[in-house]
Amino acid sequence: MKNIILFGPPGAGKGTQSSKLVNLFGYELISTGELIRQEIRNNTEVGMAAKTLIEKGMLVPDDVVIEMIRKLLRAHDFDKGLIFDGFPRTVGQANELNIIMSEFGTAIHHLISIDVPETELISRILNRAKDSGRSDDNLEVVRNRLLVYKEQTSPVMDYYTDQGCYSRINGVGTVDEIFNQIVNIIKA
Ligand code: AP5
Ligand code: MG
Repeated sequence: MKNIILFGPPGAGKGTQSSKLVNLFGYELISTGELIRQEIRNNTEVGMAAKTLIEKGMLVPDDVVIEMIRKLLRAHDFDKGLIFDGFPRTVGQANELNIIMSEFGTAIHHLISIDVPETELISRILNRAKDSGRSDDNLEVVRNRLLVYKEQTSPVMDYYTDQGCYSRINGVGTVDEIFNQIVNIIKA
């Protein structure tokens, strides 16, 4: 099965679409945002260090995230496909992922970037803020998350363009319309 990265700015729909892919195809989901929030809830050392960064909309250091990924992939059955949500988020992370995947004799098959205008992203996140309980779902932090995405994360698209596995889809529309575009890419 394929290994897919769902990519895009905060609020693009990575989490929404990942869980639909898991339900339809039985992929294993790796969401670094969820993993980090779990560490925070468990009051671990990693969680405590990450909390202040998340609350400012900044990225957790690459080495911390890479260690989480390595640990999970060591236990993964590679006959099952993987969906990465929110990872890699820097070119450094993308490079490390490449190394790890080749150590396991596999690779990333698609990076699918979900394209949504900034005004829509902000309105989705502020709407979600009403019941998400996420400390980073407020206007000031969202603005910084968007800036960090532009400066540190968007270069990851060029990295996968060079690898020949980059696709971009329109992320505005119904959840099912967007899902169909993703499925078409995966099945092609
Ligand atoms: P993370 O948890 O990855 O958050 P994010 O990238 O900011 O994205 P969101 O989860 O807010 O949005 P999403 O794209 O998943 O959209 P969703 O489906 O929820 O990361 C959080 C933090 O953790 C980072 O800031 C960083 O500090 C740290 N971190 C995580 N990974 C890291 C890494 N690799 N390296 C370093 N640090 C890392 O949808 C959003 C809303 O819109 C929902 O309410 C949804 O219902 C709604 N919606 C979805 N689709 C549609 C649609 N088609 N139309 C209308 N509404 C829609
Ligand atoms: Mg998410």
